[in-house]
Amino acid sequence: MDEKVWEKIDSLIDANQTKTIKELFASDPDRAKRFSLEAAGWFLDYSKNRIDSAMMKALVKLAESANLKTEIEKMFTGEKINVTENRAVLHTALRNCDPNAKVFVDGKDVMPGVRETLSRMGDFSDKVRSGEWKGYTGKRIKYVVNIGIGGSDLGPVMANIALTPYSKRNMKFFFVSNVDSTHLAETLREIKAPETLFIVASKTFTTQETMSNAEAARDWLVEKLGSKDAVAKHFVALSTAEKEVAEFGIDTKNMFGFWDWVGGRYSLPSAIGLSLMISIGRRNYSKLLKGYWKMDKHFRTARFERNMPVIMALLGILYANGYGAESYCILPYDQYLSRFPAYCQQMDMESNGKCVDKQGNRVTYSTGPIEWGEPGTNGQHSFYQLIHQGTHLIPCDFIGCSRTHNPIGDLHDKLMANLFAQTEALAFGKSAEECRAEGVPEELVPFKTFEGNKPTNTLLTDELTPETLGALVALYEHKVFVQGVIWNVYSYDQWGVQLGKVLAKGVLNDLTAKKPSGKHDASTNQLIARYRAAVGR
Ligand code: F6P
Repeated sequence: MDEKVWEKIDSLIDANQTKTIKELFASDPDRAKRFSLEAAGWFLDYSKNRIDSAMMKALVKLAESANLKTEIEKMFTGEKINVTENRAVLHTALRNCDPNAKVFVDGKDVMPGVRETLSRMGDFSDKVRSGEWKGYTGKRIKYVVNIGIGGSDLGPVMANIALTPYSKRNMKFFFVSNVDSTHLAETLREIKAPETLFIVASKTFTTQETMSNAEAARDWLVEKLGSKDAVAKHFVALSTAEKEVAEFGIDTKNMFGFWDWVGGRYSLPSAIGLSLMISIGRRNYSKLLKGYWKMDKHFRTARFERNMPVIMALLGILYANGYGAESYCILPYDQYLSRFPAYCQQMDMESNGKCVDKQGNRVTYSTGPIEWGEPGTNGQHSFYQLIHQGTHLIPCDFIGCSRTHNPIGDLHDKLMANLFAQTEALAFGKSAEECRAEGVPEELVPFKTFEGNKPTNTLLTDELTPETLGALVALYEHKVFVQGVIWNVYSYDQWGVQLGKVLAKGVLNDLTAKKPSGKHDASTNQLIARYRAAVGR
């Protein structure tokens, strides 16, 4: 990161140390308006942050000094910015709705393939939804089970919940990810084999969890329907690995492909979204892509001072690197977004959880923050205490929708009142004087005082729709991208998950072999021995 720019940011932090968010509001009546903007159906109010115009200018300089504009173009135009895997990063091509767009990788336009897959997905989901696609015994499909993990699970799960109001209510959707047999077993209890479609979602088609669950599901289906021929009618694959799909026994006619330039955690708008498309229909799915695309265009063209993903990224960096904030909270005030924090967790932490910069040196600053969150108002009765009065600085994003899909009495007014009130309480707090003025006994004043000055962003949309969901996901994707550029880390590889995968294979051998190797450390050997004894090996 540019040290000169950081000197400026640090000096502004020092100068502002005495200026609380409350004072910043008091001295600037236009503040709320100035530090707000709209893009792709979302309104962002970032005025409740520890910033003023000078700070925003300095932060924008940080983006400029990292050549952000050039880096954005590199991504959108298919340059191989995922250097350690020698891959382009083109999830933006998946939702490029311009019918004339051309995007090249290795001299080949990828857009015809994107459009062709989308159209095949559309035809297939139409057939499943209408009942034209029949199972092996001639029954229509009622249950869809997506088997995948990580990016092949979290996106579909999150979006299926988020877009429930648009879903086909006479069908049921399940998502099996964990290699814990309970996950599959409990799902199998809910479904009937003749009416079930299994979608095996795996970019590599080698992931242990997914392949183990898929094999077990295939055995279950064959046993229930009495023939291996049933597999063709009840299994489809979403993958980049044609050979592995065929080896598994899935007809490659029933495979929906994507490409190595789609990262797992960015793959929702690829074939990985098939379960969602079956649920909400191809038209709504197109609207989702349109929402993504609107945010993509905003991100690519808006100047940094008015660029929503850039602003959110810069604010995150201010707190992580300027104030030492270690974590960051995503708080959707919409039950349909209940899995959005978990989805963002993978997207952000698997992307920017890196301690080595692009030159291979250990970074001297903190990178990807710990990300967490729960839907409001549940979090208020759980961990908000720590955000309000604890010792950690935890910047928060509050996300809300002005209209609900389910109006019941004044519940929605109450929900939104809570959202707005929390951002107010966090920013402005309650001083000791205010407590005393309210008659709080002196001995309780320290406990009832709220420091305030806690930074929040508020994101508002009129309604959660396929389009606004797409835009929201793209907003967070691009935020992560910008932070990776400024931190100078490779955001699109994930070598950190490999070691555990490799070691698990060796441990599995030792759990099941006649005699364990005893080659591990003393603790691991002891755990293996205890497990073996308990299961009678
Ligand atoms: O957790 C590592 C990871 O590679 C993720 O990046 C990916 O989303 C997940 O595993 C699943 O991979 P696949 O789609 O190849 O099964």
